[in-house]
Amino acid sequence: MPLRGQKIGCLGGGAMGEALVAGLLREGLVTPSALYVSDINHERLEYLQHKLGVNVTIDNTDVVKVADITILAVKPQVVVPLLEEIGPAIRVEQTIISIVAGVTTAKIQSCFKGPVPVVRVMPNTPCLLGEGACAVSAGTYAAEENVAKAMAIFAAVGKVLAVPESMLDIVTGLSGSGPAYMYVLLEGFIDGAVRLGLPRDTARILIAQTMAGAAKMVLETGEHPGKLKDMVTTPGGTTIAGLFALEDGGVRALMMKAVAAATDRAREMSGLK
Ligand SMILES: NC(=O)c1ccc[n+]([C@@H]2O[C@H](COP(=O)([O-])OP(=O)(O)OC[C@H]3O[C@@H](n4cnc5c(N)ncnc54)[C@H](OP(=O)(O)O)[C@@H]3O)[C@@H](O)[C@H]2O)c1
Repeated sequence: MPLRGQKIGCLGGGAMGEALVAGLLREGLVTPSALYVSDINHERLEYLQHKLGVNVTIDNTDVVKVADITILAVKPQVVVPLLEEIGPAIRVEQTIISIVAGVTTAKIQSCFKGPVPVVRVMPNTPCLLGEGACAVSAGTYAAEENVAKAMAIFAAVGKVLAVPESMLDIVTGLSGSGPAYMYVLLEGFIDGAVRLGLPRDTARILIAQTMAGAAKMVLETGEHPGKLKDMVTTPGGTTIAGLFALEDGGVRALMMKAVAAATDRAREMSGLK
């Protein structure tokens, strides 16, 4: 149990910070007394204390001083001043986990004096419902036990896989940005049905459940998506007619371009391009 006896701090109690803390409590991985959240927003802290019973403070350094694991969950534009603020209080025995988009482990490590273990994670918004897709990468000084701690935390809010940091920008372009791609697909299909006369709400529920169900088929059967597609495609039937319309519009090339464009942008933002 990588989280047994660990005190976990979260710097930034916004959407993601709350989702992580709530996920850890929901899964019974830690008790509220082992969780410490800091934020510049008093109202946010009062809300989190009231709702989740965790320790809260306005002072980031107070959290770092007690935590075995510290999660950085602030927006990218405030992370450098935050690291400068907490740097002197960081100890090499700690694990630092960052979910801050576009900030490399090298950049974070450079703000600390010693060989501090840093693990970087790319989560996505469905973490808010415990259905996230997260990838975890080890920094130079992070050992297996540090990565195991990060994986245990993010397993509380969804599926989690380990990848080399060189691939994390691709993950950003795939599953990080992925929910938005899915919303656009859903909206398009809904509009398609509305155009033909189906009520919008009926279309919304049917296609969203279809997307969730198809995703579950892929994850739970382990089958290649092409095989699952072939299984529902009768020769001369309705599905192949719909698929032809998608292929005729270049749907696969568009999806591949979307991942490439988002990955390029992530690389630009990490300063790698
Ligand atoms: N949401 C996602 O799906 C997602 C996905 C991938 C990665 N991420 C990453 O996760 C991080 C957090 O995102 P989020 O959506 O949770 O953002 P958020 O809701 O804005 O939460 C950030 C919180 O940190 C507070 N804060 C600002 N400066 C601070 C400081 N110096 N010390 C302590 N707290 C401070 C903010 O307060 P104020 O609001 O008053 O400024 C806010 O409550 C971002 O870096 C983002 O790139 C998020």
